[in-house]
Amino acid sequence: MNKANLLIVEDDPLQRRLIKENLEREDYAVFEAASGKEAISIIAEHAIDIAIIDYKLDGETGIAVIQKILEQNPLITPIIVTAFGNIENAVEALKEGAYDYIVKPIDFKKFLLVLERALERQKLKNEVSLLQSSLEERFSSKNFVFSSSEMNEVALLASKASKSDATVLITGETGTGKDFVAKTIHFSSRRKKGPYLAVNIPSFPETLIESELFGAEKGSYTGAHERKIGKFEAASGGTLFLDEIGDLPLQFQVKLLRFLQDREFYRLGSSRPLKSDVRIIAATNKDLEKLMKEENFRSDLYYRLDVIHINVPPLRKRKQDIPPLVDHFIRKYSEKEGKKIEGISAEAMNSLLHYSFQGNIRELENVVERAVVFCEGSHITSAELPLFLKDEKEEDLKPEGLSLSDKVKNIEIREIKKALLENKGIKSKAARALGITERILSYKMKNYNLSSD
Ligand SMILES: Nc1ncnc2c1ncn2[C@@H]1O[C@H](COP(=O)(O)OP(=O)(O)OP(=O)(O)O)[C@@H](O)[C@H]1O
Ligand SMILES: [Mg+2]
Repeated sequence: MNKANLLIVEDDPLQRRLIKENLEREDYAVFEAASGKEAISIIAEHAIDIAIIDYKLDGETGIAVIQKILEQNPLITPIIVTAFGNIENAVEALKEGAYDYIVKPIDFKKFLLVLERALERQKLKNEVSLLQSSLEERFSSKNFVFSSSEMNEVALLASKASKSDATVLITGETGTGKDFVAKTIHFSSRRKKGPYLAVNIPSFPETLIESELFGAEKGSYTGAHERKIGKFEAASGGTLFLDEIGDLPLQFQVKLLRFLQDREFYRLGSSRPLKSDVRIIAATNKDLEKLMKEENFRSDLYYRLDVIHINVPPLRKRKQDIPPLVDHFIRKYSEKEGKKIEGISAEAMNSLLHYSFQGNIRELENVVERAVVFCEGSHITSAELPLFLKDEKEEDLKPEGLSLSDKVKNIEIREIKKALLENKGIKSKAARALGITERILSYKMKNYNLSSD
């Protein structure tokens, strides 16, 4: 087996032969082209890894050939060969996408080292590209599982959005699939080969949001030892997903608005406007209209973001999606666990259909994953479902006779039991999950006569 497929683009036959012989001795498969045109037709037929291109070809420059090659197959690594002393040519080639350069007369020992390094990078590039196609597959519309008319509407809107570059605003409760919809849009849009970057706004302290989004010049703030490229710039050619946009502090809302209007932004510490060809998708589980009324979200920004609005409804409002999702997750997790689970019992499915899933699809996915782990037979049964799920009867939540405070009490008990179970009875963790202090949790448990096991 040869080490890799190389292509020599060189119009001088003697030089071409010299390179070919040296490389074949090292177990490379070598293809030859005397012009850019020949190079392109070889690339169309063979899986070339590295192209070695002479800078000065008859009637064209190696630079033009690099561009044509990369246009046809961006996975190929180009290396330019230039005459001794023409370092500017080499620099120009590097700018145009050459990986490295070789100086004539060729020192083959050095050349082989450069080739080895280039191949390492080639391997990485191929891995990234594989990863890219598996992402494309994972977020293709065929993996978008639903059967409700509500989600059909969402899928239709997502498909329309993927055909344009318009800004999209995705709203919906936690775990409904907002990230999923954003990725589906990106991976079925013309930008799918470009980057997909996500910024979770609340995970950045206010002092760092600006540099994270827009970048920063060296020395522009304490600790900025080097120029930092922001996500707006890095996602150029692709999509930037701004998650939890409702948490963006007001002072940055203006900057985002400016970008959406003029497509221009400034790195922190610079007065030079920069442009980026990036598509923005924003998401939030907050009520932006309420935030606007409270003057915590700018309405002009809202309207700029809301060009295409996709609202992902909560799972309890589209229960028809539960059975196909359950099937999907059983398949996913039994494959992962190496089990042969064919389905779920009618009784267990019934419990799932009657549960309110405050955590939406994410919660359903966790429940199914856990059931698959516990399941010993061919079907998931009620025995593998968590207790809180079987405990919940919808009558608890909306019986005619109960007072509001009793309904609240029932919900509280259920949520506490659930948090304790999910956190293996560890009170501090359960309290954190519930967003209350451990002291209050203990108080409530005592009050409701609940134990932590
Ligand atoms: N239609 C769907 N088909 C299959 N899996 C889905 C679907 N929608 C969501 N999921 C899965 O459900 C989980 C939660 O979805 P996602 O992370 O997109 O929710 P989210 O709305 O972004 O939540 P949050 O508000 O917490 O960020 C993910 O594992 C995702 O892969
Ligand atoms: Mg999300």
